[in-house]
Amino acid sequence: MQKRLAIFNQKGGVGKTTVSVNLAVGLARRKKSVLMVDLDPQANSTSGFGKTPGDQPSIYEVFHGKVDLKDTILSLEKNLDLVPSSKDLAAFAMEVEDNSPGLLRKILEPIFDDYDYLLIDCPPSLGFLSLNALVAAHSVLIPIQCEYYALEGLSQLTETMDMIKRGINPDLHLEGVLLNMVDKRNNLTKDVAMEVRKFFKDKVYDTEIPRNVRLAEAPSYGMSIYDYDNLSRGAMSFKRWVREFIKRSEEWQKEEA
Ligand SMILES: Nc1ncnc2c1ncn2[C@@H]1O[C@H](COP(=O)(O)OP(=O)(O)O)[C@@H](O)[C@H]1O
Ligand SMILES: [Mg+2]
Repeated sequence: MQKRLAIFNQKGGVGKTTVSVNLAVGLARRKKSVLMVDLDPQANSTSGFGKTPGDQPSIYEVFHGKVDLKDTILSLEKNLDLVPSSKDLAAFAMEVEDNSPGLLRKILEPIFDDYDYLLIDCPPSLGFLSLNALVAAHSVLIPIQCEYYALEGLSQLTETMDMIKRGINPDLHLEGVLLNMVDKRNNLTKDVAMEVRKFFKDKVYDTEIPRNVRLAEAPSYGMSIYDYDNLSRGAMSFKRWVREFIKRSEEWQKEEA
């Protein structure tokens, strides 16, 4: 059983990287083998895992055909590997804009069967890199920040998914929607959460990730929340959500089989 996910939302700052990093570690600690691909030129998940972008060959060199994918894979801990990003990726994405949406899929194909989960942390745009992620993936996981403009852009996002489904990747589906940075004392958050649940219905996970300062601090120490503060509210909610994530993702695969 193997699953490839793009963690995607064209908005920046909604929690794609936070969710990618902590989902990757959460799955690995539940004995799932995981490869995380950092596809954002900002390389936040690379540095969030304590690796300095540019210090090692990255997905950029693989896109360029200079390095084999396998030679970029860093082993982070048991069951968890990373293909790092680098700032150069931004320039590459400009050069090849719109040309080859199947490139990443072709690059990753040789290792498809080596992991239970392949997670792609996407940049905040609908350009070349994100399209490549949506073509390489089985499903899309959307983190949503519970704030006023949260719903803006979501129809564009679902339209993009539909377009890819009708064309190059008919298997693409919505994995789930995760409400992030939830503040229960804030009425606006509650309204936004309700709106998102109305829009995406049962695709929204029951578990919500609260706004928690420990989650924001962890990346600057190059750590996941599991290592930075395992007993924080952020860690507790991630653990609960990862259980829900696995359960749902395995149920879906059973239905498909
Ligand atoms: N639940 C949360 N509580 C507190 N801070 C968070 C939470 N989720 C994300 N952040 C912080 O918000 C910022 C944006 O999150 P990030 O995961 O980098 O978003 P994206 O990858 O979508 O741009 C980061 O500084 C991150 O540490
Ligand atoms: Mg990010």
